[in-house]
Formats: sequence, structure tokens, C-alpha cells
Amino acid sequence: MMEILTLVGGIVGLFLLIGIVWRLSSRRRSLPCPSWLRWFVELDNPFAKTCRAETILQHLDLRPGMTVLDVGCGPGRVAIPIARHLAQQGGDVVAMDIQEEMLQRVREKALKENLTNIQFLQGDMERVNLEPERFDRALLVTVLGEIPDREAALREIFQALKPGGFLSVSEMIFDPHFQSRDTVARLGLSAGFREGHFYGNRFAFTLNLEKPQSSANT
Ligand SMILES: C[S@@+](CC[C@H](N)C(=O)[O-])C[C@H]1O[C@@H](n2cnc3c(N)ncnc32)[C@H](O)[C@@H]1O
Repeated sequence: MMEILTLVGGIVGLFLLIGIVWRLSSRRRSLPCPSWLRWFVELDNPFAKTCRAETILQHLDLRPGMTVLDVGCGPGRVAIPIARHLAQQGGDVVAMDIQEEMLQRVREKALKENLTNIQFLQGDMERVNLEPERFDRALLVTVLGEIPDREAALREIFQALKPGGFLSVSEMIFDPHFQSRDTVARLGLSAGFREGHFYGNRFAFTLNLEKPQSSANT
């Protein structure tokens, strides 16, 4: 019995250590979630309802004809349900990720479901130039902490959103790159956003960052 407990403790400790090293290293350079772990990213976490694809979708307040940007879309856990939802309503999705292997997985899923309202963009959110005021909604689901220059990324998303649009940021404590609500709000405000709806709790949440209709509203 003692040996089993030692083994389990050792495995948990090893994962914690990897998480801490990974998180600290990410502060210096981009260390995205490895693409071979995409099967794991595709699972909806049973302990964090707020971060499930279905819940995130419900909180996006999507309307017909909208265009949505999913930054760090990974294997399309959220981008595909959004594309499915908007398919009948003339809306579309841009699935963006730094890793081509992740986008490849989204392409396969879109093809399988015959979804034609999804475009793919490979790029680093720190450096990409997005078309100004193109998107009604943008998403960062457990991605923000993987981007070393979070300020630059948020500024770029801000300029790419239409006035009155919003960025939905979801975080959960199980992610080694977890960002607290206060950090997300502070970074958002400095990029020009204002705080919108908050869902969940401090361990797993979605915080909407709104782009005001006009600069007079800031
Ligand atoms: C933990 S996964 C989350 C995937 C997806 N958002 C989800 O919740 O299922 C983080 C994703 O962000 C991507 N990523 C990390 N840094 C990025 C960057 N600088 N620009 C664009 N994507 C990035 C990674 O490649 C990875 O697919």
C-alpha cells in the first residue's frame, strides 16, 4: 500500500514540476502546448463547466452573420462548435494557431462535417497583423498565458474587433499557464478594453473584455 501511495505521489509531483518549469520557461519565449497533446486539449474538463465548449458558446451571444476569431484554437474544441452554430446563420469563424499541426486537426474535423464557413490562419498572436475592425467576437481559451507578450497580443485583438464587439477570455486553474481574473482584467484595460460579463469563479472563468462603441465611452 505504501509503495502505491509513493508511486502516485511521485507521478503527481512529476507533473507539478513539469508544469512549473514549463510555466517559468514560457515567460521568456513562446512554449505552446505541444501538438502531440492535442487529444488531451480536445477533452472538455469535467471539473470546469465554465470552460466547456458548449458553455463558452452560450456566453458568446452570437447573432446571424457574425465573424468570430478563435486565437490559439488548438484542435478546434471550441472553433468547430462555433462554426457549426453559425453555419445556418451566414456567420463564419477564423481559426488561428501558431502550430500548423493543430490547424490540420481543425481542417480534418471541418471537412468531416462539411463546414465551409471556417478559415485557417497560422501565426503568432504576438506578431500577426489582423485586419482592423473585422471581428464581432474573439476568443482566448486557455491561451493567454502561453503568449510571452500578452500586452501586444491584446492590443492586436482590440484593433481587430469591431466597436461594440468583445473578446471572451477563459481560464482554468488546471492549466499550467493559468491567468487570474485580476491579471486578465488589468491587461485588458491597458489594451483599451473595458470589463464586461464575468462567468464562473476564480478557478475557472470566462471574462468578457469589451471594445467600446466609441472612444468617448472609454
Ligand atoms: C492549451 S491550448 C488551448 C486550445 C483551445 N483554445 C482550447 O481551449 O481547446 C493553447 C493553444 O494556443 C496556441 N498558442 C500558443 N501560443 C500562441 C501564439 N503566440 N499565437 C497563436 N496561438 C498560440 C497553442 O498552439 C495551442 O494550440
